[in-house]
Amino acid sequence: MSSSPERSVLATSLRSDPCGLLRRADVGRVVRLGGWVHRSRDLGGLVFIDLRDRTGLVQLAFGPGWSPADVQALAAAVGVESVVLCEGEVVAREIDRVNPEMHTGEIEVRVTTLRVVGPAVTPALPVARGRGDKMPAEELRLRHRYLDLRRPELQDNLVLRHRLLQVSRRVLSDHGYLELETPILTKPTPEGARDYLVPSRVHPGEFYALPQSPQIYKQLFMCCGFDRYFQIARCFRDEDLRADRQPEFTQIDIEASFIGREDILAMAEGLIGALWQEAGHAVPVPFPRMSYADAMERFGCDRPDLRYDLHLRDYSTVFAGLDFAVTTAALSSGGRVRGLVVPGGAAWSRKQVDELEALARGAGAGGLLRLRKADGAYDGPLAKFLTDAAKAAFALDDGDLALFVAAPDRLSSPALDRVRQECARRLDLVDEKAQQFLIVMDFPMFEEDPVTGALSAVHHPFTAPHPEDMEAHPDAPAKWRALAYDVVLNGTELGGGSIRTSDPATQSRMFALLGIGDPEEQERRFGFLLEGLRAGAPPHGGIAFGFDRIAMLLSGAPSLRDVIAFPKTTAARSLYEGAPVAVPDEDLEALHIAVRDGATGGVR
Ligand code: AMO
Repeated sequence: MSSSPERSVLATSLRSDPCGLLRRADVGRVVRLGGWVHRSRDLGGLVFIDLRDRTGLVQLAFGPGWSPADVQALAAAVGVESVVLCEGEVVAREIDRVNPEMHTGEIEVRVTTLRVVGPAVTPALPVARGRGDKMPAEELRLRHRYLDLRRPELQDNLVLRHRLLQVSRRVLSDHGYLELETPILTKPTPEGARDYLVPSRVHPGEFYALPQSPQIYKQLFMCCGFDRYFQIARCFRDEDLRADRQPEFTQIDIEASFIGREDILAMAEGLIGALWQEAGHAVPVPFPRMSYADAMERFGCDRPDLRYDLHLRDYSTVFAGLDFAVTTAALSSGGRVRGLVVPGGAAWSRKQVDELEALARGAGAGGLLRLRKADGAYDGPLAKFLTDAAKAAFALDDGDLALFVAAPDRLSSPALDRVRQECARRLDLVDEKAQQFLIVMDFPMFEEDPVTGALSAVHHPFTAPHPEDMEAHPDAPAKWRALAYDVVLNGTELGGGSIRTSDPATQSRMFALLGIGDPEEQERRFGFLLEGLRAGAPPHGGIAFGFDRIAMLLSGAPSLRDVIAFPKTTAARSLYEGAPVAVPDEDLEALHIAVRDGATGGVR
């Protein structure tokens, strides 16, 4: 990937050229270089150093014909990762010493002067890695991030990240979006996670919240008439971490006025297309669409990975005709029997299928019912209950394994989603090169607690319900769909957004449905939004993309931590600077905070 500006831009009073951009055309020039000693070889009479800067490596050669003796001795002694300045002549390498794997492999620099300006202690982990060298443990890499970030792979990731940010800014700005900033010390907004709170010193007992997203502010920008907003926004969410979640992450946050769903989705496709193009991929637009209901029915998941098929089916009517106690009980209590057929799965051992069952149980199912067909015979607990009609309905081929979950959808969907993904992984069905974009639409507006019946917002409380559903079922909000959408790639949610409620009375009603019915409480928590809407609000909507996720997918990195310079661990610690930390008692006192007995904290 070409990541460097013109080399003349990188020339300074201390160096004439960046290391990695020297080429055959430079032969004969005397150059001054600066960089890190990547690796060195002392061959007795000759010393070679690979010098590294962000543009790449160049070979420095020290020999008796051109390097003074003290320079050669210094080159032999300098430790790896030290920073040096040098001067020398660019020469062509002998034909048999050309290194086709290095961009600078046709030349080397015969050094005449050398200064060690930043001597390095022995590095805690190697920066230069040979082919097949094991990567140091991630904890060690994060602890010594100042070394880890020197690795060319991570430098490439961060350079790509920079380029993607510039493309985002250019594309959005060219389309009339204004880059506007919003506060970091703010008030809780409900995005579904826990807030990070910041105590106020001047207002005892009061707290700011770090923003989970700039959601309310961007809506207020619309009420102010800014019309099109974007921000590369830092968001903070105190939630359980996974490989694609960080407590502190970056969104490309977007909002626009006088638009409908299709306007936002067309802009989103254009932006994604430009970002993918920057990384060298063509993206076919428009993206396929799928309703939330379809995604859940066929894949058990609202961000299905469409790189492989293996979809789920409803087998309830087949099981209704079988005298099989477990499924009959589930069906009679309002559940369904859903499942999938795995071609070739009949060859899996009992233990391998038990492992699938453990995944299903882990996701909440009571079990995973199995039926194998091999050599024309059926095998499994169901086998002796099968009728001819059931056999015809399952339509198993020899070698197939059918897997079923009998339960309400809220349990069977996540269980079958896990099972489907694991089967695809085992059968090697995932085409790692494929880019299967998808827009999932028509999410439900609310989720109903199965025990209490309480409603919570599936997207967030500012999303507008589908007007047709409000009209058709005015008193059954659980049936309303939302004007919300997610952009999904290969099973990862890249972004999500919605058309907002711009009518203050409808917004108040939404709060009431979510259990915030008291007008005073509404004003206390959301007055600043409601006032903005009451002051005259245009129809508006937007979307936010997870920028770290985009950078991760486009750089091929396995984790968000590989595209964030200073990330947190899955235990939400930053190992480099060592945060969070206990603070001295006097600092806590100034903040009017006492740490409870038993909790660590407070340096005593
Ligand atoms: P949402 O909560 O869906 O929407 O977030 C938008 C996108 O942000 C990314 N994301 C994360 N990335 C890394 N670590 C996390 N912890 C994390 N959480 C979310 C995801 C997600 O799709 N205000 C709304 C947007 C809107 O309605 O316009 C919002 O924040 O890629």
